[in-house]
Amino acid sequence: MLQAALFYLSALFYAGSAAAAAVAKSNESATIVAYTLPTEVTRGSTFDVKVAAAGRDHYTNVETFIANVDKVNTSSGGSIYYTPSVATFDFSGGSVDVTITFNSSTRIDSVQVRPYSYGIEATVNKKASTIKLTLDEPRNIVVQVNEDVWQNVLHLFSNDIETDVPSPDDPDVLYFAPGYHTSSTGFSNVTSGQTVYLAGGAAVSTTFSFVNATNATMRGRGLVYKPTKAGGVLIVSSEDITLQDLIFVNPNNGYTLTAGMASGVTVRNIRTFSDGSWGDGSASAGTLSVR
Ligand SMILES: *[C@@H]1O[C@H](CO)[C@@H](O)[C@H](O)[C@H]1NC(C)=O
Ligand SMILES: *[C@@H]1O[C@H](CO)[C@@H](O)[C@H](O)[C@H]1NC(C)=O
Ligand SMILES: *[C@@H]1O[C@H](CO)[C@@H](O)[C@H](O)[C@H]1NC(C)=O
Ligand SMILES: *[C@@H]1O[C@H](CO)[C@@H](O)[C@H](O)[C@H]1NC(C)=O
Ligand SMILES: *[C@@H]1O[C@H](CO)[C@@H](O)[C@H](O)[C@H]1NC(C)=O
Ligand SMILES: *[C@@H]1O[C@H](CO)[C@@H](O)[C@H](O)[C@H]1NC(C)=O
Repeated sequence: MLQAALFYLSALFYAGSAAAAAVAKSNESATIVAYTLPTEVTRGSTFDVKVAAAGRDHYTNVETFIANVDKVNTSSGGSIYYTPSVATFDFSGGSVDVTITFNSSTRIDSVQVRPYSYGIEATVNKKASTIKLTLDEPRNIVVQVNEDVWQNVLHLFSNDIETDVPSPDDPDVLYFAPGYHTSSTGFSNVTSGQTVYLAGGAAVSTTFSFVNATNATMRGRGLVYKPTKAGGVLIVSSEDITLQDLIFVNPNNGYTLTAGMASGVTVRNIRTFSDGSWGDGSASAGTLSVR
């Protein structure tokens, strides 16, 4: 139970995916945007996810991918690894119906949609192994089969459709288009006044480094995917840095964000997954005003 509780804290505090591949539109009903992930992102096979404007039958497929998590083996102190599923999409302008197919020989006995405080009811068809639910607004939810928090679980993240997409030609914008990106040094260094934008469907495998930077932002619907140098984001001697809406998948050292000698760090709607030791997500040292 303790492990389960810790995992949820991590999942909520941290965090994804998405390229404008599919846009469904109809009168007075929700518009849905889902993204095609680059092939370098490991797909999930446990769940099939599709979304339609509420009451409509034009479904948009939402790809799933896996994140790695581990739990402590309390007998040995070692790790037991799991690969829960993650899916993300955007919608605005109305409610959406989500249909999830559990692609497993395990029978669905019960389904939990967390957090319970959202009051989202799932309708389960045990014979067809499907789960249906409706979202009235974008939410970060966890859909569990048979109370499993580790493997048979779908982390379903939805966002508003973006309205303030920066221009790729703006010199103050570090723009990552849909697709897979790395850098020769393993770092992407950000300077004052810059906006780092990860489009939906972008998966960027670098550590974003803010050193001596002020007034910089990192946002979008993309993934920071398995950075290999120094975690997801490093903020050193910097001020007024905002991180929002991104999904972080398995930073190499377990840290989504490491901040030192910084002030005015704002973290909003970041979802992240980590595994291994020190996988607790975020660390600040000598840093003021982190929120
Ligand atoms: C949408 O279009 C259909 C067909 O024209 C119409 O019946 C319906 O009232 C319209 N509005 C909504 C909210 O569905
Ligand atoms: C469902 O499982 C089967 C067998 O493991 C696999 O071939 C298929 O691709 C899976 N479906 C999805 C959507 O991953
Ligand atoms: C946990 O560790 C014990 C002792 O080493 C081992 O026997 C057991 O198989 C481990 N459990 C899992 C699920 O790995
Ligand atoms: C980029 O940032 C990293 C980490 O702060 C640093 O080691 C590296 O020297 C920087 N590279 C450039 C070109 O500034
Ligand atoms: C912060 O950066 C933005 C984008 O480059 C710029 O428009 C704005 O003037 C900067 N604000 C300050 C206080 O420097
Ligand atoms: C940051 O500022 C310090 C002090 O001015 C300087 O020594 C260092 O080289 C700067 N680092 C970068 C990456 O600009």
